[in-house]
Amino acid sequence: MINVNNFLVKNKNKLEEDMNSDGYFKMIFDRDAVISDLKGYVLYKSLKELVNSPGDVAEIGIYKGGSANLLAECIKDTDKTLYLFDSFDEVIPDTQFVPDDGTNGHSFHYTIEEVQKKLNRFNNITIYPGIFPSTAHNVEDKIFCLVHVDCDFYAPILACCEFFYPRMIDGGIMVFDDYEFFETPGATRAVNEFFNGKIEDIFLSSACGGFVVKGINKLNAGV
Ligand SMILES: C[S@@+](CC[C@H](N)C(=O)[O-])C[C@H]1O[C@@H](n2cnc3c(N)ncnc32)[C@H](O)[C@@H]1O
Repeated sequence: MINVNNFLVKNKNKLEEDMNSDGYFKMIFDRDAVISDLKGYVLYKSLKELVNSPGDVAEIGIYKGGSANLLAECIKDTDKTLYLFDSFDEVIPDTQFVPDDGTNGHSFHYTIEEVQKKLNRFNNITIYPGIFPSTAHNVEDKIFCLVHVDCDFYAPILACCEFFYPRMIDGGIMVFDDYEFFETPGATRAVNEFFNGKIEDIFLSSACGGFVVKGINKLNAGV
């Protein structure tokens, strides 16, 4: 079970130190990733803790496949599958909670062929192109140990919460990359709305963004 204390804001310096001395992470972290290296390190450390647990892995919001490449590296020698979702060239209709800063997500254009080419050395990956949640039915019978939600907007992030939360194993981690990021207020709103009244607390990651561990709150995590 993940020790959430290791990933919280108060431990940022320690996490950075660990990251800088982790040669394997440096080798597999892909510079095409939009996420920072510290965010990548949190994903990598979280997934390492969960490789022996049941459940597959999903990412919603792939872009060039940088963070997907990292997740794939972490599970390449396991029987887990990485399920990837992105709209690719389709226009994303929901921008109502995103400020008009010129980078509202429509600038993230990349083709499925380019991502497939990048990830073709892995044999445990499936990509579902299309606007989430219209593609979610493909994995409705799966359970998940880690889900990386990185799709910027209110509607798909809320849909990710609704779809994946009931399919997370106990102790499974949902990472919300855009949580509490000033350019993506819809993300914070969606996550707050969904977890309002649930037993879990939303933890602020030291790498920025937030995460939820199924069944875990501040009280039972000792935070
Ligand atoms: C910030 S990028 C992802 C970056 C990637 N995770 C990384 O770190 O390298 C956000 C992606 O979310 C995708 N996206 C946004 N809304 C979506 C939706 N409703 N369904 C599918 N993909 C969506 C966009 O196409 C874009 O590629």
